[in-house]
Amino acid sequence: MRFSRVFGFGTALTLVLIGRGTADQTDLKIPKTWDEEALAGWQVPLAAPEGQPHLLTGEEFYRLPELKIYKSYPVYAPGREPAGYMDRLRSAEPELAFDPSRLRSEEDWVRAGEIVFDAPVTISKIETPSYFTDARWFRDHNVPYAKDGTVPFYSYVVREKGKVEIGTLSCGNCHSRVLPGGIVIKGTQGNFPRAQANAYTMRALRPTVGDTLGLKILRSVLLHDFGTPWLKDDLDKRLDSLSLDDMIDGFDATPAGVTPCHDSSLFSPVQVPDLIGVKERKYLDHTGHMLHRDIGDLMRFSAYVQGNTVAGFGNFRLPAPVAGFAFEERMSDAQLFALARYLYSLQPPPNPNRPSALSAAGEQIFRREGCGDCHTPPLFTNNTLTPARGFIPPPEHLTKYAITPVNVATDPALALITRKGTGYYKVPSLRGVWRRGPFEHNGSIATLEDWFDPARLQEDYVPTGFKGIRSQRRAVKGHEFGLRLVPEEKKALIAFLRTL
Ligand code: HEC
Ligand code: HEC
Repeated sequence: MRFSRVFGFGTALTLVLIGRGTADQTDLKIPKTWDEEALAGWQVPLAAPEGQPHLLTGEEFYRLPELKIYKSYPVYAPGREPAGYMDRLRSAEPELAFDPSRLRSEEDWVRAGEIVFDAPVTISKIETPSYFTDARWFRDHNVPYAKDGTVPFYSYVVREKGKVEIGTLSCGNCHSRVLPGGIVIKGTQGNFPRAQANAYTMRALRPTVGDTLGLKILRSVLLHDFGTPWLKDDLDKRLDSLSLDDMIDGFDATPAGVTPCHDSSLFSPVQVPDLIGVKERKYLDHTGHMLHRDIGDLMRFSAYVQGNTVAGFGNFRLPAPVAGFAFEERMSDAQLFALARYLYSLQPPPNPNRPSALSAAGEQIFRREGCGDCHTPPLFTNNTLTPARGFIPPPEHLTKYAITPVNVATDPALALITRKGTGYYKVPSLRGVWRRGPFEHNGSIATLEDWFDPARLQEDYVPTGFKGIRSQRRAVKGHEFGLRLVPEEKKALIAFLRTL
């Protein structure tokens, strides 16, 4: 996909003062996203010194074309589309949906930020067959959708009159969740089976593309997105031993709420985090790869995750992205500012789990077991990094970063042998665990009950979340806190966690 480079406003606008009204809305300056000075201390260095990322320079970043955000339209679950809907879309005029010159109040910015959150960045032809029209796939994968039949994870876009396209990879593609009863929550751990949708598309294209070319394209995409050839135990060298079927099965083994996202790996996909409460977090990503010092850092992060902001790692120059598989634009500073203000404004939905005698008993157990040393109330995280198994923090980190020097001994692969391998896992917040899952940085565990089940330490365990490629059985090690509680205590502890 390619958009025009010309957008109705330039980056000069980024320094314009915006906002009137209440004290905290006056003099709101849009921070410069790709500010080289701010970028210099923004990332926690990777544990392997030879793989440090080279971020684009400010000049290179601002040379990327700006994303044009068109009005999008809901997609309905198979069988739920109102009669004549597509005809109506075909007669709709293309319309731009984001205009910063009109934004005045905090509410305006937040509303505009929600549009950015839902804006797809990958727009393509409506292929048939496709997962989003396949009733059987929806059923087999329990794809959730809203009460009114709409699917909140992707949308239709009209960029040209008469041509309706499908847009995916909005923030909401991974960070929107449909709760039981069809209630849509934006900005949390999502529940669209995105990796499985990718598997669907690969299977659908296979007969046309052919296995040899299919395998070649997939390897190139994975190398571009995840390759770490500077590492001796490069996870993705293992790709060489995988067939096309293995790779597609790998996507299929990655459940909703978990995804092989930017800089991770097909072998070590990542749990999608909750964004409600992100304002209070000091580090971003499970490995604490980026500092969150101010709203500018969240804007930097949002630009970074779109995946065209790194030129290479150490001596490894990123190969050119495979055509059609990369986001070629950047969001403007105004779009990113609106997006970040929207994320800061997110409030948790009402929690149906009210405190009870059982949860009060669970709170006592939480205290007694020392959970609060790391998951400290009221945020239920102490906002620190813990060293992963096998990583010894360099002495200068002890004064530079907030570190809890306890190794919780979970699988260290994400923290050591990926492009986001800082050597650490941050302590996640436990707020909102009632509405989300799977758990653990790889999303290996489906429920809280399974997280506190000691059977997960055994090698013959079948993970209830992400299983792993070609391996149905493996131990989900580490974080043994609470595993030895008696069943009634566990029940109470979990009841307490569900009230947070
Ligand atoms: C392909 C799925 C996907 C999309 C699309 C996506 N994210 Fe994420 N996001 C993730 C995953 C997975 C992580 C966790 C990465 C990690 O921990 O290494 C994450 C992490 C984050 C975090 C860090 C939160 C924390 O507490 O560490 C923020 C903030 C965030 N995403 C915002 C966004 C925004 C804003 C967008 C849209 C511009 C977006 N994401 C698009 C999957 C996605
Ligand atoms: C030494 C610090 C520490 C202590 C003590 C601790 N945790 Fe954790 N907890 C962590 C870290 C770090 C993770 C993330 C591990 C990972 O994903 O690899 C985590 C993850 C979790 C998760 C999964 C969250 C998610 O979103 O995936 C839950 C639930 C949890 N802890 C509950 C508890 C409870 C309950 C206790 C006490 C019985 C406890 N923890 C004690 C550090 C700690």
